[in-house]
Amino acid sequence: MEILGGSLAVPSVQELVRDQIVTVPSRYIQLDQDPPVISPATTLPSIPTIDMECLLQGDSQPSEFKKLHSACKDWGLFHLVNHGVSYSLIERTKSEIQDFFKLPLEEKKNFSQQPNDLQGYGQAFVVSEEQKLNWGDMFYLVTLPFHRRNSLLFENLSPSFREVLEAYALELQKLVMALSDMIARALAMDPKEMRDLFEDGFQGMRMNYYPPCPQPESVIGLTPHSDAAGLTVLLQVNEAQGLEIRKDGIWVPVKPLPNSFVVNLGDVLEIVSNGVYHSVEHRATINSEKERLSIATFYFPNLKTEFGPARSLTNPQRPPLFRRETMQNYLKGFYSKELKGKSHVETMKIAPGLEKAGNTS
Ligand code: OGA
Ligand code: NI
Repeated sequence: MEILGGSLAVPSVQELVRDQIVTVPSRYIQLDQDPPVISPATTLPSIPTIDMECLLQGDSQPSEFKKLHSACKDWGLFHLVNHGVSYSLIERTKSEIQDFFKLPLEEKKNFSQQPNDLQGYGQAFVVSEEQKLNWGDMFYLVTLPFHRRNSLLFENLSPSFREVLEAYALELQKLVMALSDMIARALAMDPKEMRDLFEDGFQGMRMNYYPPCPQPESVIGLTPHSDAAGLTVLLQVNEAQGLEIRKDGIWVPVKPLPNSFVVNLGDVLEIVSNGVYHSVEHRATINSEKERLSIATFYFPNLKTEFGPARSLTNPQRPPLFRRETMQNYLKGFYSKELKGKSHVETMKIAPGLEKAGNTS
């Protein structure tokens, strides 16, 4: 099976913190970050909340579709409520993830990433020994399609963790398929084109553990980036806050909302929508008191699928703004570099005036 990429081995930050450090090793210090705006709610429009039950009622809820359209266009991110995934499954998922990171390092090492593989316990996007590091540890698993799973890693999981992850993976696939249907409708895109794109899709889950840090302003949990996915469903595993999005040039905190998911649009949807929708640039910040945990479920078209601006959204008046690429090549490119804002989606843009060339590919 073809490998998507790898990441250099780095120390566990959770272990580093166990030693009660007061100063942070220089490899983690990043002083050039823009501060977030901690603004009173009145000065910023609040992050949109979308109700899945309303969307499922279809034509009788035109205003929810309008809301979804502007959330995808103006924010690239929303809270999703009434999402239909069972409360008990979510609670079990959260508790298994917390238990996993509580394991002694020696046991977590049984899941260590192998060279040239992104799956396992470790990091992503570390491509040089000089590069600055994020203040966090990751445990990443490919969950769908089944034949792409790393069976050794799965077999090593405790039976309860494995069972919960399997159920969570299938529930989230169902949710994302339904949601992408709604997004096609909001976008006035041919629903079949959207369905074909995500049918038998590729799903990965990244569990993030961000320990507290004695110098929180000088480190970053996860570098500013957009996700490569079509859609990402983020579950904030504990109440600690840290997710921020860049909105109109400033960083806006996304406070965890009980019983909801954070859904964000990734690069694939920006490209498929031909730039009508935008993948959201986001980052994870750190605090000095409390650890923070999250699980991001990324859903992509099947790796063999070639994607590009939807044919139902492009015409001579609205020529494609992005080139076409296989999902596999897009992802390989994404994982071969340092994570950096929206730099990877930029590589897909067709230079103005050259749209015709992109059209014929
Ligand atoms: C990610 C991500 C944010 C968070 O894993 O891609 O953006 O809050 N995570 O952990
Ligand atoms: Ni992300």
